[in-house]
Amino acid sequence: MSKASFFDPATIALHSGYQPESDHGSRAVPIYQTSSYAFQDVAHGAALFNVERGGHIYSRMTNPTVQVLEQRMAALEGGVGCVCTASGMSSLMTTFATLCSAGDHIVSAAQIYGSTATLLKSTLKRFGIETTFVDINDSAAISRAVKKNTKLVFCESIGNPGLDIADIPSLAAICRKKHVPLVVDATFATPALHNPIAHGAHIVVHSLTKWIGGGGNALGGAIIDGGNFDWGLKPEKFPTLNEPYAPFHGISFFEEFGPAALSMRIRAESMRDFGAALSPQNAFLLLQGLESLALRMPKHVENAGEVAQWLLAHDAVAWVNHPSLPSHANHDLVASLFPKGAGSILSFGVKGGRDAGAAFMDALQLATNLANVGDSRTLVLHPASTTHSRLDAKAMKAGGISEDLIRVSVGIESFRDIKNDLANGLRAAQRTQKNADQKDGRKTQQKTEQTRKQTATAKPVKKKAATKKATARKTAGKTAAGK
Ligand SMILES: Cc1ncc(COP(=O)(O)O)c(C=O)c1O
Repeated sequence: MSKASFFDPATIALHSGYQPESDHGSRAVPIYQTSSYAFQDVAHGAALFNVERGGHIYSRMTNPTVQVLEQRMAALEGGVGCVCTASGMSSLMTTFATLCSAGDHIVSAAQIYGSTATLLKSTLKRFGIETTFVDINDSAAISRAVKKNTKLVFCESIGNPGLDIADIPSLAAICRKKHVPLVVDATFATPALHNPIAHGAHIVVHSLTKWIGGGGNALGGAIIDGGNFDWGLKPEKFPTLNEPYAPFHGISFFEEFGPAALSMRIRAESMRDFGAALSPQNAFLLLQGLESLALRMPKHVENAGEVAQWLLAHDAVAWVNHPSLPSHANHDLVASLFPKGAGSILSFGVKGGRDAGAAFMDALQLATNLANVGDSRTLVLHPASTTHSRLDAKAMKAGGISEDLIRVSVGIESFRDIKNDLANGLRAAQRTQKNADQKDGRKTQQKTEQTRKQTATAKPVKKKAATKKATARKTAGKTAAGK
């Protein structure tokens, strides 16, 4: 493993944590496809188990291929340690479970990925951990929501799917004041665009499945320990890092490992007990992606900006949402926090609602309709006809999703080809809307015709009614006379 240090992310992503190995000189990071590692002798095995020596025991805890990825992610985010897990969700769960126990509390941004919201709202609640959700744009409310038993504040640097930008320096200031760590899911940004730790965050989580992998072929997650939170300042608040840990001879992680206490506890407890290990094969695939991240992200960002501008000027488009646009609610934060661009996800509304949106999706040839983001290929999703199709318009509105919303994860194909494909989709949407308008027009015409006919026939009816009334009067008179 390499001890060299480098100036720039592009070099770190290619070289950190690995030098050609001594047996065969493999230049690429080898896939250590093994579950376990032979001990040199009994004493060596015992020393590894007693944490007296470093080394690999079993791939649920550590694996040399995974370790290279971990070292590169720690270096890229400026952390003191990193633990990779099987998916982004397992990284989130592992982080929450390492810091919180039954009776504890989390403050989370409301504008976060749906599965993370479900984890916090429902799953963790089942284990006695409560979450208060607060508008990410309301710093004062976030500060107020922090309670005595709050163990962390959580947000996404760019929210999924609303694309809200978290003001990390302000949130970090609140967290420092309240002495709680700030945990940031930086999946939509990647370390190529933004480093939350440099802005004061304490822990960074990534779904490696997205832009970092880039190929859409492997799931993975990473937890980066910033090493910048003083777990020992209020030891009673963070018992998992301060109290004696019986399974490891009663050590205190903070006393033993100092700033790296969190990542050591995650490795020792969560990886051992929860077992959400990243497979060496997936670590290898994710490393291939990471090695070219510094080249890919600028292209993602450039294309997203061009697509956003092009959509904005299109007749079939009702609205466009991307942080690069001045109309975006957090646009003022982009220049200071995301000078290299605020990611490659954008959303827009197709005129004509749900049907036009569906027609747009079906006409696409290049952009793929699926539930993922961050692939090098352009991906699209129409929530109203897929993920949110069971919700009525009111429920969707509450979730911040309109019937016409299309989410685009802009890839690194040529802008010309992406634009051509989206243009075909928008033409199909326009045809659908035109047909619907014509249908509506015919319906209106039919209605007008019907009303005209009814009005025309209403007079005789009135006459008839008048005749009937007269007849009735007449009959009544007759009857009365007959009495
Ligand atoms: C912001 C964010 N965090 C976490 C995840 C979960 O990642 P994974 O699918 O790798 O579990 C996702 C998935 O879409 C996401 O968008």
